[in-house]
Amino acid sequence: MGTIERFYTLNDGSKLPVIGFGTYNEEFSDNKKAILDAIECGYRFFDCASLYETERSLGNAIRESKISREEVIIESKLWIDEMGYKEAKAALERSLNRLQTDYIDIYMCHWPRQTGTDDEKWKEKDIETWKAMEEMVDAGKVKRLGLSNYLPHHLSNILDNCRIRPVVDQLELHPGYSQEAAVAFCRENDVLPMAWSPLGRGRENATAGNSILVRLSEKYGKSVQQINLRFLLQKGILPIPKASTREHMLANTDVFDFEISRDDMWMLTCMPQTTWLGEHPDFYIPDRRSNPDNT
Ligand SMILES: NC(=O)c1ccc[n+]([C@@H]2O[C@H](COP(=O)([O-])OP(=O)(O)OC[C@H]3O[C@@H](n4cnc5c(N)ncnc54)[C@H](OP(=O)(O)O)[C@@H]3O)[C@@H](O)[C@H]2O)c1
Repeated sequence: MGTIERFYTLNDGSKLPVIGFGTYNEEFSDNKKAILDAIECGYRFFDCASLYETERSLGNAIRESKISREEVIIESKLWIDEMGYKEAKAALERSLNRLQTDYIDIYMCHWPRQTGTDDEKWKEKDIETWKAMEEMVDAGKVKRLGLSNYLPHHLSNILDNCRIRPVVDQLELHPGYSQEAAVAFCRENDVLPMAWSPLGRGRENATAGNSILVRLSEKYGKSVQQINLRFLLQKGILPIPKASTREHMLANTDVFDFEISRDDMWMLTCMPQTTWLGEHPDFYIPDRRSNPDNT
């Protein structure tokens, strides 16, 4: 099984495989085995976060695998309750400890806006957090910085005030929730859009059941999930699907032998909203907390 040998070039000249692997596990169970399988299936770019409590299993899997640390790209994120200058620095140390590494390849701020904060307050907090993150790069503990769930008005606050530019912005993106405005803003600012829940998290009666997707699946002889991934890739977006079985892991990289036509791309782009998870950064109030004891 070969590794994914196609890459996106980021705004700092570095490269990322065009498909990554998501580690979020709703049960928060140890998913080391899935990650070891993913490494064997050719994945080299792994997304995790302090919130997911998957950093330790990712670190363990990398140590147990036969590949070197340099061959793997680790992306992790600090959570909302880890924002702030001092808090962010402490969060990074905890993440490094759990990942059992001395650097993270891409470190992200997970969520732009703290609950109940007015405009000026969340902007200040974001800038303060970013300043700490820039110093992590200076210290060699982080290679590059990214954002997650930053819409144009959140991203521009960082762009207007940063010394080190974010290389990626991770957003919920899939057919039925393609967030065209946010993706266009990323492009204008040379920030690579990355897709979380690229398969709509397999929710019933939505992506998988959507008649447009089913029709295109039959037309192209590919699964609905492969249509989702190919759609994102043709838009120049980097998907990070999560999968538990080798069959799914391999299917999710078997998306380079067909091309969705221009008209079908438009049909997917314009399809009615479906399978949106419902977490809007300006309105949704995440009640989850990071677990500082999870060291
Ligand atoms: N930044 C954020 O706020 C944020 C939020 C959510 C997620 N994420 C990241 O994005 C990653 C991916 O998103 P996600 O985990 O929400 O969902 P997803 O990748 O859209 O969907 C995962 C679901 O699809 C199924 N699946 C995978 N490949 C399949 C295939 N080829 N055929 C049929 N079913 C398939 C999986 O089943 P099996 O497990 O049975 O294979 C699982 O139920 C996460 O793991 C996480 O790293 C980030």
